[in-house]
Amino acid sequence: MKIGIFDSGLGGLIITHSLTQALPQYDYVYLGDTARVPYGNRSHDTIYEFTRAAIDHLFARGCGIVIVACNTASAEALHKLQGEYLPKHHPGKAVLGVLIPAAEAAVAATKTGRIGVLATNATISSGAFDRELGKLFLDVQVTSVAAPLLVPLVENDATKWAAPIIADYLRPLGGVDTLILGCTHYPLFKHLIADQMGHGVTIISQDEIIPAKVHQYLIAHPGLDLTISKQRSREFLVTDLTDQAVQLAARLYGKPIKIDRVEL
Ligand code: DGL
Repeated sequence: MKIGIFDSGLGGLIITHSLTQALPQYDYVYLGDTARVPYGNRSHDTIYEFTRAAIDHLFARGCGIVIVACNTASAEALHKLQGEYLPKHHPGKAVLGVLIPAAEAAVAATKTGRIGVLATNATISSGAFDRELGKLFLDVQVTSVAAPLLVPLVENDATKWAAPIIADYLRPLGGVDTLILGCTHYPLFKHLIADQMGHGVTIISQDEIIPAKVHQYLIAHPGLDLTISKQRSREFLVTDLTDQAVQLAARLYGKPIKIDRVEL
């Protein structure tokens, strides 16, 4: 069986890249729902249905574990998938999200308990980061900011316009000592964000923490680890294959990659 990675689009390739660098021995399948990205402005029910269909697809393709790299899908769908859907339809298989690892890293890093979260509209309005941070740190003070314009900047090769937009989004975050980048695409802006936040603010970027968490999970579940094949294969699947998707994937991954189109 393989390790599946799911994102609403291509931003999750950033985590995929860091995962395949850190744990190169495993076989991976990436699925980006490029036909329906962005999820960040959609309703809870729609995000749940899209995520469930993507996970069904990855399990049908022989994945034993799926990493939901998409924060929006992790925030809106993961709880129900893990609690209700998986035990009934895919017993013995695992789905992991990216919110709790980011919350844990933020709580470990903060000295003042003042933590910022930058994410999509859906992730912010779900309150999922606030809940996870509150479970880990009773007196945490969370400042959440929705930053919906950053995803289209990446998807449209327009990151050169990011600086003033980011400056505006960061304005309410003065006073935090730790900032979670709670969206697949934001690691591309981490240096710009770190510069604008200034010294003394720790930036939590999921591409830097998820590989270690997946590693720990597989060590803690040796039975599952044994079933994951280790032929170093990589497959990249999308639901809409456009020139722009191919270019963006090449830019994110640093080389041309073969991508196939699938239907969910
Ligand atoms: N993948 C989404 C996330 O991490 C960002 C793109 C989208 O809105 O679908 O929240």
